[in-house]
Amino acid sequence: MVPAEATPTAAAPRLTVIGTGYLGATHAVCMAALGYEVLGVDVDPGKIERLNSGEVPFYEPGLPELLAKAMDSGRLRFSTSLAEAADFGDVHFLCVGTPQQRGSNAADLSFVHAATDELARHLRRRALVVGKSTVPVGTAAALADRVRSLAPAGEEVELAWNPEFLREGFAVEDTLHPDRLVFGVTSAWAEERLRAAFAPVIGEGTPVVTTDLATAELVKTAANSFLATKISYINAMAEVCEATGADVQKLAEALAYDDRIGGRFLRPGLGFGGGCLPKDIRAFIHRAEELRVGQAVAFLREVDEINKRRRARTVSLIRELAGGDPAGIRVAALGASFKPDSDDIRDAPALDVAATLHAAGARVRVFDPVAMDNARRACPQLDYAADALDAAAGADVVVLLTEWTEFREIDPAAMGAVVAHRRIVDGRHALDPAQWRAAGWTYRALGRP
Ligand SMILES: NC(=O)c1ccc[n+]([C@@H]2O[C@H](COP(=O)([O-])OP(=O)(O)OC[C@H]3O[C@@H](n4cnc5c(N)ncnc54)[C@H](O)[C@@H]3O)[C@@H](O)[C@H]2O)c1
Repeated sequence: MVPAEATPTAAAPRLTVIGTGYLGATHAVCMAALGYEVLGVDVDPGKIERLNSGEVPFYEPGLPELLAKAMDSGRLRFSTSLAEAADFGDVHFLCVGTPQQRGSNAADLSFVHAATDELARHLRRRALVVGKSTVPVGTAAALADRVRSLAPAGEEVELAWNPEFLREGFAVEDTLHPDRLVFGVTSAWAEERLRAAFAPVIGEGTPVVTTDLATAELVKTAANSFLATKISYINAMAEVCEATGADVQKLAEALAYDDRIGGRFLRPGLGFGGGCLPKDIRAFIHRAEELRVGQAVAFLREVDEINKRRRARTVSLIRELAGGDPAGIRVAALGASFKPDSDDIRDAPALDVAATLHAAGARVRVFDPVAMDNARRACPQLDYAADALDAAAGADVVVLLTEWTEFREIDPAAMGAVVAHRRIVDGRHALDPAQWRAAGWTYRALGRP
């Protein structure tokens, strides 16, 4: 639900959102829903056209309905012009991508630099530029100098950092009702502008943590490192469980009752992926080494390695079930997106496993409820099915790779009737082994006997 007090005053800043991908489009739509006048900007004219016609260019539950409302309100529009954005906005949110550089762990900041430079050249009056993209610590301070030197308004333009913690699949809820807001600022004016830009959210009682620029950047990196570590921790335990015949699912359940540990992100399985955690921990390793504190985060290399081993181990489980040689075996791959309720396939463990099996000679048929188009573009060599049962038809092994609700609800008897062999690898610990075994399936999962 949109906060009730969504009525910013006449003095409310006009907002721009630069970069309208998973983060930016959601932010632009939600800010308009909160009552602000918003202009979204992207270099991709196709994306802008779709947004202007009321279509969300990716899958995010609840966002299409909110976009329609925001467009009807007349408070939201989209453009490809940063000159127009500079003219329109008082507060400019930077939401462009920061992917991993090719051949390096470092973050690629070229989109951040291109967007900031182009915007700054058109800033002729007092304005606040607010970074939301995830960047290596130190980026904001350097950008602040860059913006001031390029902007015609010079010292009138300030820069702040407001890291974003939204989760794909829950992006609308997380944007309207975040756990906390972090404002990295260098002046009282910048803090006042940010408070004005989030007034309805703050009015709901959302905690605000005000920091310097470097701390704000680090909060995001530290949060993602912690989450990745927690996932790899339980997956490391899964490796030990496999060597001893113990059951990692029971282990995790028992650990979760300890309030100091907690059960969230303690789910064993195929591990993390997506456009954030993997590249963010690698960029952190790289940046810490540049700062000569590499040792402090050296454990993140192991976190990354444990995570990669989950993918390799899933492939080897499938091979074991199929009798050793993957060549020619038919595999039904259920899931392509990096997590359920998203069509994001960036560094998706599911597609990685499917592509590895294909490269080893297996005949892989993939089905995902929403990520089929993205998966086809990224992995055209794979075969794609119309639904889960179609994927499973004639399969020697079924592997569940993304824990979509519809896969959890599959009837083992119905699927058993179409496969060549009743063998399933549950890569996400999403199924009830007793139920599948009772239906005659050989059930395997990482870290379970
Ligand atoms: N996706 C998430 O769940 C999430 C959550 C928190 C933080 N983040 C961070 O937010 C940032 C964006 O992530 P995303 O997932 O939205 O990426 P994305 O690739 O979906 O979107 C980035 C958008 O920026 C646009 N762009 C690139 N250069 C531009 C320029 N010069 N001017 C205007 N637009 C430009 C691209 O066309 C694209 O639409 C990253 O730093 C990411 O780490 C993402």
